[in-house]
Amino acid sequence: MSATDNTGRSADGRGVRNVGILGTGCYLPEKVMSNRDLEELVDTSDEWIFSRTGIRERRLAADDESTSVLAARAAEAALERAGVRADELEMILVATITPDMLFPSTACLVQDLIGAKNAVCMDIEAACSGFLYVLETARQYIATGSMDRVLVIGAEKLSSFIDWTDRTTCVLFGDGAGAAVLGPQDSGRGIMASVMGSDGGLAHLLRIPGGGSRRPPSHEMIDRGDHYLRMEGREVFKHAVRCMCEASQMVLEKVGMTMDDVACVIPHQANMRIMKAVAARLDVPIDRFYLNVEQYGNISAASAAVALDEAIRKGVVKPSDIVLMVVFGGGFTWGATLLEL
Ligand code: ACO
Repeated sequence: MSATDNTGRSADGRGVRNVGILGTGCYLPEKVMSNRDLEELVDTSDEWIFSRTGIRERRLAADDESTSVLAARAAEAALERAGVRADELEMILVATITPDMLFPSTACLVQDLIGAKNAVCMDIEAACSGFLYVLETARQYIATGSMDRVLVIGAEKLSSFIDWTDRTTCVLFGDGAGAAVLGPQDSGRGIMASVMGSDGGLAHLLRIPGGGSRRPPSHEMIDRGDHYLRMEGREVFKHAVRCMCEASQMVLEKVGMTMDDVACVIPHQANMRIMKAVAARLDVPIDRFYLNVEQYGNISAASAAVALDEAIRKGVVKPSDIVLMVVFGGGFTWGATLLEL
C-alpha cells in the first residue's frame, strides 16, 4: 500500500501546498427503480434485497444520459458551489468504469459539455475506489504547485452494463455522478493524508470480462453475456471489509490520529453489511458513518463522491470536521483519505 501526506516536500524541494475542496456537487438521474420494481424482473424480493444489502431503491439514467452527461451535471453543480468558472479549470479527472466509449476519455467529453477549454483531461479507472484515486492524483498536481484548479468526478451509468436477468448482481447497482473542485488552501488542513492499494491477482473476482482486447466484441461474446458485470459476491465482501479497515487504520496512523478524532466516515456505499462490518471492526458506532446506499445502491466510482457532496450540503459534516473517506473496488483497489473540511 502506498501512502502520501501533506507534510513532506515535493521532489524539486519546493514546499508542498495544502489542498482543499472548494466545492462539491452531484447528479442523480430522476428515474427511481425500487426493489418492488425488481420483483417484476427477477426472482427476488424487497425483503431479501434490503436484509442482505440495505438497498431499497436505485436511480437509472435515461437513454440520452450517458456517463459524460451525468458527470457534466455534477461538475456544473460543483463549479457553482466553488465559485470557479469552467474556463479556469486546468485539469479534469474522471473516475469511471462505464465510460461513454473506449476512447476518447469521458473527461474529454465532459470538457466539451461544460466548456472547460483550458483543461487537460483524462480518465482514471479504479472501479469503486476511483473517486479517491482522482482526488489523490489531483492533490499531487496542486500540492506541488503545478496547478491551481482541478475538477475531479466519479460518474457511472452501471445500468448499461448490468445483466437485468441476473438477480445476484442487478439488485446492487445504480447510476449517478459526484464531483469536487480542488485548489490550494491557505487555512486549515484540507486533504491531510491518503493511502491507496491495489491487488491485480484478485482481478477475476469482480469484472466485466468482455468488450476489450482480450475478448473483443463478437456475437459469441455477447451471447455469453461477457459484456456484463460479473462478481463473486462473498469473496468481494471479505476482501472489502479487510482492506477498508486496514486502509482506515493506516491513514489515521500517518497523521497520529485515532477514530475518536473522526467526526464522520464517508465510505464507498457498496452495501450496508459491508459498512456495518467495517464499523464494528474499527469499533466506531455506525451512526458516525454517512449512509445513502438505501436510496442509491452501489454507484461505484460515484458513490463516495455523491455521499461527500450530500454530507456537506446537509450539514452532516461542517468546516473543521475531520472526515475519513474509505473505498474498495474491482482490481482489487482500495484507499482511504483523511480530510479537514
Ligand atoms: N434475491 C433472492 N435471492 C438471491 C438474490 C436475490 N437478489 N441474489 C442471490 N440470491 C440467492 C442465491 O441464488 C443463493 O441461493 P441458493 O442458496 O439457492 O444458491 C442465496 O441467495 C445466497 O446467495 P449468496 O450469494 O451466498 O448470498 P449472500 O448472502 O452472499 O449475499 C451479496 C449476496 C449481497 C451479493 C453479498 O455477497 C454481498 O454483499 N457481497 C459484496 C459484494 C458487493 O457488494 N459488491 C458490490 C461491488 S464491489 C464493491 O463495490 C465493493
